[in-house]
Parts: sequence; C-alpha cells; structure tokens
Amino acid sequence: MTQTNTPTTDASPALTQDQLKTLVGQAALQYVVPGEIVGVGTGSTVNKFIDALATMKDQIKGAVSSSVASTERLQALGIPVFDSNEVARLSVYIDGADEIDGHGNMVKGGGAALTREKIVAAQSDRFVCIADESKLVQTLGAFPLPVEVIPMATQRVIAQFAAQGGSAKVRLKDGHPLVTDNGQFIVDVTGLQITDPRAFEAEVSQWPGVVTVGVFAFQRAQVCLLGTANGVKTLTF
Ligand code: 5RP
Repeated sequence: MTQTNTPTTDASPALTQDQLKTLVGQAALQYVVPGEIVGVGTGSTVNKFIDALATMKDQIKGAVSSSVASTERLQALGIPVFDSNEVARLSVYIDGADEIDGHGNMVKGGGAALTREKIVAAQSDRFVCIADESKLVQTLGAFPLPVEVIPMATQRVIAQFAAQGGSAKVRLKDGHPLVTDNGQFIVDVTGLQITDPRAFEAEVSQWPGVVTVGVFAFQRAQVCLLGTANGVKTLTF
C-alpha cells in the first residue's frame, strides 16, 4: 500500500464525519473520465459523491447505479442512468465501504446493496473506495458482515456461520425482515475475523442460498480516498 496526502488548506477545527464524507466525495471527481459512463455505489458517502458529480453532469454520459436509492438520487439531479447490461465496460466504479484493509479488501453491504455493488464493481476497470478513516482496519470482521440470502435458506446459512464461530441475525426493518432491491434477505454476521478474505469470499459464495457475501476481495479497491483530520489520504493497492 502506498499513501499520499492532500492536506486541508487551513487549521480549522476537527471536521465532522459528514464533512469528511463530503471531502472524499468531492475528491473522487478527479477519477471520473469525461465523456464516459461512471459506476456509482450506494450509501451516505456515495450520496456526497453523487451531489458533487452533478456539478460535472454535462461532461459525462451518465452512470450505472448499484441501487434503487442511488438511481433515484442520480436521476433527481439530472444524471442519466444506464442499465448495466447496456454497458460493456466502465473505467471506474466509485463506492464506499464498511471496512477496508491495507490491501484494498473490503466489507460492504451496510446499505443492503452489496449484490448490485459487486456486479457493477466487476464490470469496472478500477474500484475507487471513498471512506472516512474510521473504516480502515487491520483485519476485516469487526463490522457485522452483510450476506444477501434467498429467504428459504436463511436458517441454514445462519447455522453454517454458527459452525464457524459466527453469530448471524436476519436484518430487520420496522420489525420485519428487510427486503433488498433484489427481493432477498440480509443476514449480518458478527464474531468473525476474516484473515484470508479471498478464501473466505470464495467459500461462502458457494453455500446454497447465498446470493452475495459482503467481502469484496475479488472486486477489491485499487484506490482508497480516506477522509482524515489532515485532509484526504490517497491509498493505492
Ligand atoms: C452499501 C454499502 C456502503 O458502501 C457502505 O455501507 C458504506 O456506507 P456509508 O458511506 O453510508 O458509510 O456497502 O451497501
């Protein structure tokens, strides 16, 4: 991992987490290629990026989006959204993360959009992760790991994680299982230490009923723009 700093210009008081998200959302514009379609993730940090992207909407063709929420935000700002099937390749995908390690491996899915996020990341040449520094970890696993599952497999998947020492719970919304954009459920798993993210992703992805596991090792980030008290740090992996 290599690291460069873009310091903030003044010695103002510590920035809030929301301000750090704005900072990295704006910094991500430098990776958007004029004349092209950009891959857009999901979450509160990406919302800042989408708002910044609106300032250069006349210079891009549009976006491929990873969720209904991002699509609605992009369209409300006048940015055309393309179906991923209409686009062969994207040069860049910009998204947040719940955790990122020193190799660009991530845990994602806090916003329940992990499946579409992995699809758009897979069709992109470069993943640029935008996050505040609280997301940088030594080992993945402290943040509950989201896994999208087909509802009838939920208890079986929970039992498989229990056999590995993890504790999995169905994510709820208003007292009922949250239903993803794809009509599936999410289980969140705690108690894991993911020391080999590629092996873990490869194994869990094969469990019957698992749609997507929220470890992004095969679709890891090549760049991370990290919002810190001293400005935006650029990590390259
Ligand atoms: C959504 C995601 C998000 O990228 C992740 O949860 C980070 O979100 P935020 O920027 O709100 O902290 O994976 O499924």
